[in-house]
Amino acid sequence: MRFYVNIDHVATVRQARRTDEPDPVRAAELAESAGADGITVHLREDRRHIQDRDVELLRRAVRTVLNLELAVADEIVAIALRLSPHQATLVPERREEVTTEGGLDCVRGKERVAAVLARLKEAGIRTSLFVTPDSESLAAAALLGPDAVELHTGRYAREWRERRDALAELEAGGRAARAAGLAVHAGHGLTYENVDAVAAIPEIEELNIGHSVVSRAVLVGMERAVREMRERIDRARAGA
Ligand code: PXP
Repeated sequence: MRFYVNIDHVATVRQARRTDEPDPVRAAELAESAGADGITVHLREDRRHIQDRDVELLRRAVRTVLNLELAVADEIVAIALRLSPHQATLVPERREEVTTEGGLDCVRGKERVAAVLARLKEAGIRTSLFVTPDSESLAAAALLGPDAVELHTGRYAREWRERRDALAELEAGGRAARAAGLAVHAGHGLTYENVDAVAAIPEIEELNIGHSVVSRAVLVGMERAVREMRERIDRARAGA
């Protein structure tokens, strides 16, 4: 299973003072040396954490692969096309949200999403759509023909202690997406405590995890934080 580390919140700390530390490029290097398979960043329209220059530097510095999360917004799409990351994950974005709240609307937004997908594909960029794991959203996403869908694990992350139906929904979503011929990714709100059950879903081949890893990195260092999450994922995957 691929484990991509989202380093947005390294930039959040830097932007709190608008200085040059901590450096997301250095964080990416440490994450890679500790076993990350890829580095994920979200270039938001409001530039609240990752900046254009970060993406440019990471595009050159990342030795694994760069997964760029972006909204269906012309200015950001143009940056993705220019920098040509390994993968582009289309996400919904609202200015007032604290983090990406829902999945992409592939019903009402289908023309715009399809147009952006076509441009990214033409540029040779692997495409993924971030969607809620219900069957309607997945069917709508599959019709647009991305390479992958990333299942939004936000509901699971909120409810995993009390209920099991959010996990069941992810499991069913994984099967449905795979049956539709899509690669299956997952992420959002995953932590050292709740990642195991998601990592054990066989259809899921990639996890994107940010806040929990960066939070732990503040206390124990990036390499140890990444290594510990890597070990958890690999153990859960092996059925241990
Ligand atoms: N996947 C996507 C598409 C996201 O937008 C985010 C948040 O930026 C994540 C994964 C990572 O979520 P978290 O920071 O909660 O691990």
